[in-house]
Amino acid sequence: MSPVDLRSDTVTRPTPAMKTAMFAAPLGDDVLGDDPTVLALEARIAAETGQQAALFTPSGTMANQIAIALHTRPGDEVLMADTAHPYHYEAGGAAMISGVQTRLLPTTNGQMSAEAVALGVRKPDVHHAPASLLCVEDTSNKGGGTVHDDALLAALVAAAKANNLATHLDGARAYNAAVAAGELLANRVGRFDTVSICFSKGLGAPVGSALCGSHELIARGRRVRKMLGGGMRQAGLLAAAALHALDHHVERLADDHKRARTLAMGLMVEGYTVRTPQTNLVYVDVPKAAQAQDFLATHGVLAFATGPSQMRLVTHLDVDDAGIERTLVAFRAWRSVASQ
Ligand SMILES: Cc1ncc(COP(=O)(O)O)c(C=O)c1O
Repeated sequence: MSPVDLRSDTVTRPTPAMKTAMFAAPLGDDVLGDDPTVLALEARIAAETGQQAALFTPSGTMANQIAIALHTRPGDEVLMADTAHPYHYEAGGAAMISGVQTRLLPTTNGQMSAEAVALGVRKPDVHHAPASLLCVEDTSNKGGGTVHDDALLAALVAAAKANNLATHLDGARAYNAAVAAGELLANRVGRFDTVSICFSKGLGAPVGSALCGSHELIARGRRVRKMLGGGMRQAGLLAAAALHALDHHVERLADDHKRARTLAMGLMVEGYTVRTPQTNLVYVDVPKAAQAQDFLATHGVLAFATGPSQMRLVTHLDVDDAGIERTLVAFRAWRSVASQ
């Protein structure tokens, strides 16, 4: 029996129907601008995010890094949450690629306040790096898969604009947020100057993200993507998977959220302390998390320790109800081993 893989929502394999769509896709050369499937995906995701244009990228990291490059100049400062993905997990790319420094703002559950943004922008002064960009992440990954209130998103953008900052939304899981909030994606994310969306997380495509924004920004972003080596030729094969995901895998994100809640409740019954999940990420306090990770793996459950006594479990397309049950059984076993 294959393990229940809760390490990330990036681990999903393309479904048979998705593979069929990929092989049927009309292809061209996307660097030359004539892959019809990529063009269709870019038009579709631009419309769904309420932006003018979009750029298909190999990863969410590249989409975020292109956004940072577009909105800043070397020597600038970028404001973001102290939990933000570009700071923790993008290999120092903002410093290397754009030559900017990062200013981390305090958060509650991965969410900044508008006041923190206003306070975080330092006055023009010869000593200071000028702030030029605010990055927001929704849902917040390290924050626990939390969903920003629409009013908070509006307040963050307003605070940024009042201080002449451009705004970028890291929307790797923005569809999870929209589904959980019961709101239209475009209404939530259309207010940002740029938005990155991942197709290879909860949506279940094998590869690919998009950066969405104005015609002018995306035209410039296309050159940055080329510079970073992100120009892909018959990329329609991958864009077809993303289009299939948009057609078939958006509403079902609610199933992942439901399973995350079932998992969290089951873990609480087993005596674990768990943060009630808002979407598909479950953070649980686990004694000796590194050893627990190994123990669980030998019991058919894969998950990452995210701290000395914390693990993250992620529900997705390839985790069913039986997988949640098996996970609870394995955690029950770990509890009795760890308490000896
Ligand atoms: C919030 C967030 N942003 C960006 C990324 C980067 O995506 P990728 O792995 O496609 O580079 C991730 C990846 O997990 C993420 O969780």
